[in-house]
Amino acid sequence: MSAAGKPRVLLMHPILDPGPAILAEAAEVVPYPPDRPLDEASIRQAADGCVGIVSQVMDPIREAVLSTPGLKCVSNVAVGFDNIDVAAATQRKVMVTNTPGVLDDTTADFAFTLLMAAARRVVEADSFTRSGKFRGWAIDMMLGADVYGATLGIIGIGRIGRGVAHRAKGFNMRVIYYDPHPLPPEAQDQLGATPVDLRRLLMESDFISIHVPLSQDTHHLMSTPQFEQMKRTAILINTSRGPVVDEAALVEALKAKKLAGAALDVYEREPAVHPNLIPMSNVVLAPHIASATTRTRSEMSAMAARNMATALRGGRPPNLVNPEVKK
Ligand code: DGY
Repeated sequence: MSAAGKPRVLLMHPILDPGPAILAEAAEVVPYPPDRPLDEASIRQAADGCVGIVSQVMDPIREAVLSTPGLKCVSNVAVGFDNIDVAAATQRKVMVTNTPGVLDDTTADFAFTLLMAAARRVVEADSFTRSGKFRGWAIDMMLGADVYGATLGIIGIGRIGRGVAHRAKGFNMRVIYYDPHPLPPEAQDQLGATPVDLRRLLMESDFISIHVPLSQDTHHLMSTPQFEQMKRTAILINTSRGPVVDEAALVEALKAKKLAGAALDVYEREPAVHPNLIPMSNVVLAPHIASATTRTRSEMSAMAARNMATALRGGRPPNLVNPEVKK
């Protein structure tokens, strides 16, 4: 508790308006020193005396941090929460919250942006033009792949996966998907998406877009055997989590031309990018920005702040990831 009687909350990184005002009403906000490393020991030390932590995807919130005496809630400003050891939090009765729903369309937009950019070589074409290499129209210059009418394979048909399928309709794409929990038939028909097993998806897709959370089951879901089954003309898009794709295997597969290209927003060891991806002109690289629009990031900030404020007031936050902690 602060002198003003408010509970202390550690804010790992600044958030956008109106998040700070919502938080400040319910808590004394303790900013994490920006020059301090983001390791568990440093976070644990900074969290001393705090009942809440507002974290982001790059913050490791595991046993050491969760053992902070009096800690009640960790509010992650993200829909993904693989940076938090939820089982350990549940055991310690610490609530964990996330920001689902508000970023689905923005992320689906960006997955499609990456798909288009890779298919039509937009990034490569931009640097070609800027560097003065454009000397006139040529019939064989910068030939890409058609998106219109192609087959899109979606791995994971949650809210974001469905958003991508919906966008694909406008491009008259054939949409197939793989998910261990398929959609009910009516939802499937409405979306125009056909469920298939992973093998068939890999073999038939011109574009493969990944939309699964990171878990033990999805770690390296895409590795050498999967790349072997892809069309040599296919393009892989990943806006989910880096470790879902075995990055070293992807590099080898691209070198061996097992697939035609990739467009990535996330990496196995963020912010590091596999050095061999950097010079590849058939790979589009973005810095984990799929949800980065002003409106969405500010809605995520507000939602995370509201989750924390509710927890501090003794309520049950609306986006509780471990509901068993607060019946
Ligand atoms: C998330 O929300 O999980 C994204 O990766 C960051 O927006």
